[in-house]
Amino acid sequence: MRIDILTIFPEMFEAPLSGSIIGKARERGLVEINIHNIRDFAVDKNKVTDDYPFGGGVGMIMKPEPIFAATEHVLKETGGGPSRIILMTPQGQTLNQDMVRRLAKEESIIIICGRYEGIDERCREGLVTDEISIGDYVLTGGELPAMVLVDAVTRFVPGVLSEDALISESFQGGLLDYPQYTRPREFRGMGVPCVLVSGDHEKIRLWRRKQALARTLKRRPDLLSRASLSCEDLRLLDDIKREQLADLTREDPENEYD
Ligand code: ADE
Repeated sequence: MRIDILTIFPEMFEAPLSGSIIGKARERGLVEINIHNIRDFAVDKNKVTDDYPFGGGVGMIMKPEPIFAATEHVLKETGGGPSRIILMTPQGQTLNQDMVRRLAKEESIIIICGRYEGIDERCREGLVTDEISIGDYVLTGGELPAMVLVDAVTRFVPGVLSEDALISESFQGGLLDYPQYTRPREFRGMGVPCVLVSGDHEKIRLWRRKQALARTLKRRPDLLSRASLSCEDLRLLDDIKREQLADLTREDPENEYD
């Protein structure tokens, strides 16, 4: 997969896209990531990339010419094939795992990092195919969101993660993860659940599934309605709800003398 990032702060990308899993994926040729300085495509001698908004108002707007020129340069390099041209903006569709999976199937994507108070609307009209937000908060620019997107997408490029990691993730089926422990078995008075050191693989599988369901029910009940749940899951959820009710009844001081 090829990813081209257009930014006026190319130096921001050096460390985050060189280390760890992304760095290795690049070294192994699984993903090609190119960073382009929008400033290099500015048309005037002062390399200006922003200007005052027509109609007045605060802040500066990113000019259309350098953004069009940088994108067209990349499209020429990639042979002009079908490419998603993504603008990182808080006004976009909020990123989720399904979008990430779909984008990882593309042969190439171009990511435009907006700055200042926004970009000239004609970039949206004539260039951009997708607008993506990483959440309902406003950052100083699209660079950090672009890094988030690249990290999330790279994990799904075939060969980047082990089969086991992907199977285990898809096996979770849209639930939050179960709690994990490693050595030592006892740490500052805190132990490890006995089932995990029992050696009973079926018991461990059931315990993990129940923990994932309980955690999702407590923290993100919205995910449960979209998750693919088996009959066993529904039984475990019944158990969890019954146990929660029992805990509540036990804690209710009105029931002290029951
Ligand atoms: N640019 C500024 N804030 C952003 C956000 N939340 N998501 C994507 N791009 C942004």
